[in-house]
Amino acid sequence: MSFEKSAIVKALTNVADPNTGQDIITMNMVRDLEVDGNNINFSLELPSLDSKNKQELNFACMAAVQEVYPEANVNVHTIAKAPGVSQQPQSPLSHIKNIIAVGSGKGGVGKSTIAVNLALGLQQLGAKVGLVDADLYGPSIPTMLGLQGQRPQVKQVYNQSKIIPLEYNKMPVMSIGFVVEPEQAVVLRGPRLAGIIKQFFNDTIWPELDYLVVDLPPGTGDIQLTLVQTVPVTGAVMVTTPQEVAVADAVKAMNMFLLPNVNVPILGVVENMSWFTPAELPDNKYYLFGQGGGKRLAKASKSMLLGQVPIVQGIRESGDEGKPAVEAELPMATDALKEMAKNTARQVAIRNETIDPTQIVKMNN
Ligand SMILES: Nc1ncnc2c1ncn2[C@@H]1O[C@H](COP(=O)(O)OP(=O)(O)O)[C@@H](O)[C@H]1O
Ligand SMILES: [Mg+2]
Repeated sequence: MSFEKSAIVKALTNVADPNTGQDIITMNMVRDLEVDGNNINFSLELPSLDSKNKQELNFACMAAVQEVYPEANVNVHTIAKAPGVSQQPQSPLSHIKNIIAVGSGKGGVGKSTIAVNLALGLQQLGAKVGLVDADLYGPSIPTMLGLQGQRPQVKQVYNQSKIIPLEYNKMPVMSIGFVVEPEQAVVLRGPRLAGIIKQFFNDTIWPELDYLVVDLPPGTGDIQLTLVQTVPVTGAVMVTTPQEVAVADAVKAMNMFLLPNVNVPILGVVENMSWFTPAELPDNKYYLFGQGGGKRLAKASKSMLLGQVPIVQGIRESGDEGKPAVEAELPMATDALKEMAKNTARQVAIRNETIDPTQIVKMNN
């Protein structure tokens, strides 16, 4: 019998990292998974080699894998986490481990809300996270993080001007909204748009990051194309409401990522505005936008439903006030957003163990 990498990765999600309590896949600790005949080999990255939990973790990994493949020889090799050593030295952003694009078919489905809360939810899991607002036509991240009106600094590095991102709660953030007035953004056209997106990645000083979350404009267009030609996008998270028309548009947007020469895997689907529950009737759910859209989109992309986020007045208010919902304590909403972030981290880790790194798209024009 041959062993499936995805089944092994799934089994390892049952092993908890004693330091954080999160599973070792979500925490990105498993490296170089290999199946060689009857042997299953992988490395386990620990903060230091004399970690007192080393042996215990080794045993836990073996037991978890043998739960699905009792006949396998499981070889766990522990390695010390080397700070600053990059995974993909050939990329210009090799110090950024994962770039997650957040896309949708339509506007107004809550893509920016999801992007902000996903980024902060990943940060809550202990990851180093940055956020790019690539919706150059309608930047809303400055408002959602209470950073409107602030300007990033520009620093001269070897005679080149580099931008230093603004920060929200230690999370570096870039947005066109920090550079131009909102009324100016709408008149930007093709080549200028591409130039700005490139600046966000190549002329911005990003610190070392586990995840860089990119909030895209809706649909498919110049910005999406420039993104995949500028950086290797690890995977895309698609946001939809349960409504049929939102799903139909999201399928089109999703198909762009799946084009053979683009080849960006879909990490999963977030269904937003899934239902409404009035505070005074906490047991009632009203499906204002219908039901099942997220599940259908996940099925169409052969991915998973990363979360269902209900309509909660506090989510809208927290966005307007610059205090993201994942950091608040909103009944029904905060837990759903945290769960979504955790599922996304897990899907990124599974993707990285089972599929080759994404390549920057080369266009011959
Ligand atoms: N689950 C939700 N509950 C309540 N309001 C929401 C929810 N998701 C988004 N909103 C609100 O809906 C509006 C549109 O969301 P936004 O994230 O800007 O959408 P998009 O980026 O897709 O255009 C915002 O005012 C936002 O605060
Ligand atoms: Mg938006």
